[in-house]
Amino acid sequence: MITEHAYAKLNLSLEVLGQRADGYHDLVSVMQLIELHDTLVFNRADELEVECDDADLAAVKEANLVWRAARLLQDSAGVRAGARIVLWKRIPMSAGMGGGSSDAAATLRGLARLWGLKLRADEMHYLAALLGSDVPFLLGGPAALVEGRGEIITALSSIPPAWVVLVCPSYNLPNKTRQLYANLEPGDMANGDRARRLVAAISKGKFPTPDMLHNAFERAAHKVFEGLEEVQKRMSEVGGRAAHLSGSGPTLYTLFPEAQESQARKLCNTLQAEGLPAAITRTVT
Ligand code: C5P
Repeated sequence: MITEHAYAKLNLSLEVLGQRADGYHDLVSVMQLIELHDTLVFNRADELEVECDDADLAAVKEANLVWRAARLLQDSAGVRAGARIVLWKRIPMSAGMGGGSSDAAATLRGLARLWGLKLRADEMHYLAALLGSDVPFLLGGPAALVEGRGEIITALSSIPPAWVVLVCPSYNLPNKTRQLYANLEPGDMANGDRARRLVAAISKGKFPTPDMLHNAFERAAHKVFEGLEEVQKRMSEVGGRAAHLSGSGPTLYTLFPEAQESQARKLCNTLQAEGLPAAITRTVT
C-alpha cells in the first residue's frame, strides 16, 4: 500500500504575458504549496479502479484527472497491471488551488512507486505537462517560479513559514479557468517583473509584503464571481492586511508570519462567524 499527499497551491504572484499561437497564455507565477491536502492511497489490483469520497467527483468517473493520469502512465510506460486508487478529497474543487492537478501529480508519483517504474524526472515532468498546466509544479514543490504555459519550473525555497487564512466561496462556473483567461483584457497583462521582485525577496529569506502579491485575474474574477470583491474587502478589513486571489479564483487568502498565529486564527473565526467559508492552514516549508 502506498500513500501520497496531494498538496494545494497558492499563486503568490501571477502575471499573464499574453496569448500564444496555440491558444494558451504565457505566464510568470510564483507558486507555493500549503498544508491543505487530498490523500491518495494506491493498492495493487488487476484493473484500474478509482474510488473517491466526494460524490460529485466520483460521478465524473474517467474524466477525473486521477483516472487520466493513471491511464497515461499505464499507456506510456507499457504497464499491464492495474491499481486500486482511493482519493480522500479535501481541497475545494475548481477553486484556484490546483486540487485536481495535485491529485494528478500525486497519481503519477504514487503509481510510479506502486508499479516500480524507474522514470526520470524529465519523463515524469513531460507526462505531468500533458495532464494540465499546473501539474508539473505540483509534482514537486515547496515553491517555484513557474513560466511558459506552466511547464518551465525554477525551484525556490518556501517563503518563511506562514499561516494562511483561506476563503473559498463556491460558484458553479463550467470551464472556469478557460473562462477567466477569456475575460482578460490588455490592461491585465504584465511583463513578469513583479514575480521576479518576489523571487528576489524570497531568495533573501524575506516575508512577502502585500504589494508583491499580485494576480492578473483579479479584475476579471471580480466581474465573473458575483460578490467576490465584497468578500475580499471584508477579509482585508477584518484581517488588517490585504487578501489576495489564488490562481483564476475564487479562493482568497491572507498570509501571516508564523509569529502571528493568534491574528490569523482571529481572522478565520470572525469570518466563519459572519458565515463565510473560511479555513486556516500553513505553508509547506
Ligand atoms: O492546462 P489546463 O487544462 O489546466 O488549462 C485549462 C484552460 O486554461 C486551457 O484550456 C486554456 O484555455 C487556459 N490556459 C491558458 N494558458 C495557460 C494555462 C491555461 O490559456 N498557461
